[in-house]
Amino acid sequence: MVIAIDGPAGAGKSTVAKMVASAMGLRYLDTGAMYRCVALLAQRNGLTADDGERAAELARPFEIRFGEGDPQPVFLGKEEVTDLIRSPAISELASALSAHADVRKLMADRQKKMVEVGGVVLEGRDTTTVTAPNAEVKVFLTASMEERAKRRHAELLARGELITYEELMKQIAERDHRDYTREDSPLTKAPGVTVVETYGLTPEEVATKIVELARAR
Ligand code: DC
Repeated sequence: MVIAIDGPAGAGKSTVAKMVASAMGLRYLDTGAMYRCVALLAQRNGLTADDGERAAELARPFEIRFGEGDPQPVFLGKEEVTDLIRSPAISELASALSAHADVRKLMADRQKKMVEVGGVVLEGRDTTTVTAPNAEVKVFLTASMEERAKRRHAELLARGELITYEELMKQIAERDHRDYTREDSPLTKAPGVTVVETYGLTPEEVATKIVELARAR
């Protein structure tokens, strides 16, 4: 069974994907973490948002692996980078670099191999269109921009990161624009997706809906 969860920034994809994976005894593949690893390598080597080709070359020799646990440990080569890849600077750089075709191809090829093994819930902006178009269950999560900003704001405050709601709204609007308009694999509702509107639902309720879809399949 393969379950792919797509949708815009801040729709709650990762929280819900983890819950579904745990409820169904499947692995969880956080595709965004892989783009974040590329951004970390790029940052350490002084690359900028425009250096997609060089970022992909830098990342090619590095294995990106996931461990067990919540938060799920992320390894870049031998180094654990779980927390390092969650900074606001890395979020920005990952978003920009993920628009480059070389970076996308490198990541998507690796992710497709992980999907071929099966038994996985994967989450990210292209999972229903590119990485797992044949998944048994394909879901597109939606929520208003205000709601997504509100959720992200609470998450970041809980982590001790100081950012205003207004600044976050601006970031989410920019990220949406970039994700929906990028030339390579733009965010879109793929044929066969079930659109799940998350307004007024808890993450548990959204996860339950997806588990029900999966059981029905
Ligand atoms: O989901 P996230 O915020 O951890 O993802 C980090 C960045 O990578 C985000 O800006 C979007 C991009 N991304 C992508 O383009 N395709 C994916 N499958 C996953 C993430």
